[in-house]
Amino acid sequence: PDRITAMATELRKVGATVEEGADFIRITPPFPSQTGEARARLNPESRILNPAEGIDTYDDHRMAMCFSLAAFGGMGMRINDPGCVAKTFPDYFKRFASVTQAVPVIAIDGPSASGKGTVAMLVAAELGFNYLDSGALYRVLALAAQKHGVVLVDEAGLASLAGTMDVRFEGVDIWLDGERVGDEVRGEQCAAGASKVAALPAVRAALLAKQRAFRRAPGLVTDGRDMGSVVFPDAALKVFLTASAEVRAKRRYKQLMEKGMGANIATLLQEIRARDERDSQRSVAPLQQATDASLLDTTELNVDQAVQEVLTRYRSF
Ligand code: DC
Repeated sequence: PDRITAMATELRKVGATVEEGADFIRITPPFPSQTGEARARLNPESRILNPAEGIDTYDDHRMAMCFSLAAFGGMGMRINDPGCVAKTFPDYFKRFASVTQAVPVIAIDGPSASGKGTVAMLVAAELGFNYLDSGALYRVLALAAQKHGVVLVDEAGLASLAGTMDVRFEGVDIWLDGERVGDEVRGEQCAAGASKVAALPAVRAALLAKQRAFRRAPGLVTDGRDMGSVVFPDAALKVFLTASAEVRAKRRYKQLMEKGMGANIATLLQEIRARDERDSQRSVAPLQQATDASLLDTTELNVDQAVQEVLTRYRSF
């Protein structure tokens, strides 16, 4: 391969302005504070790196090693075929990891209505970390499917929609295709749809890159199924947050009452038990406490106490 063209092509992926000559290459780095949009205005040729596309290495160990350093610019990146370092430095990426610190992730999972979302959000606020409600992604997908007329059994259609839907989180607000959908997404109908789409492997795979893109400095707190096992297996702390079904039903009841929605505790308890059963039995990403997750039973704890407990566990690492 042409080494100059290879360098130029990959450098442009990370936003550099590159001038190529027969025997030279002139590189103007992107200004780190510029957004992708501003960068594109300055240099229409440059693109902000699409993490799913990644940096190609052309079977050249030097490409892999030098581009790994670009991660210090704070850009999430992916090196394709990292194994090409085997030629001169087989354990390069292992050594790289031993002298660098990954953006820490705290992954919280647990049964429905355990309060994991509230706790995760508050832990994120305490630490000044980013927050990802992964369940909301599945819920938004269910809503997007409804809007686009994609049926909930069309695995390929849903996976492609998962890759292309325009979803944004802003505090507690959720936007889909420029429309505010937070309340709708948190409703029971989206929850039911989410549990269906979440059982499809192609959908889970399609949402992987979207979820990993939330891992930004200084850290991420995320809640949901498989966050600690599949999405962020190297999470610094994994918590399995739970509470008795009765206490969870009471919490959900209180929450619905505060929103001015009618509810019945007995029915809620029944629903929670049924969902627990379905969630733990399903073959794809069943609800289970991961072996490396620490159990936090909040039956006797209030929200603040649960948050403090997570913070204590995180700081003791
Ligand atoms: O946590 P929640 O109620 O918003 O989740 C909605 C549905 O999505 C629920 O059925 C669990 C599923 N889910 C999942 O399978 N994987 C995740 N990471 C998050 C949620």
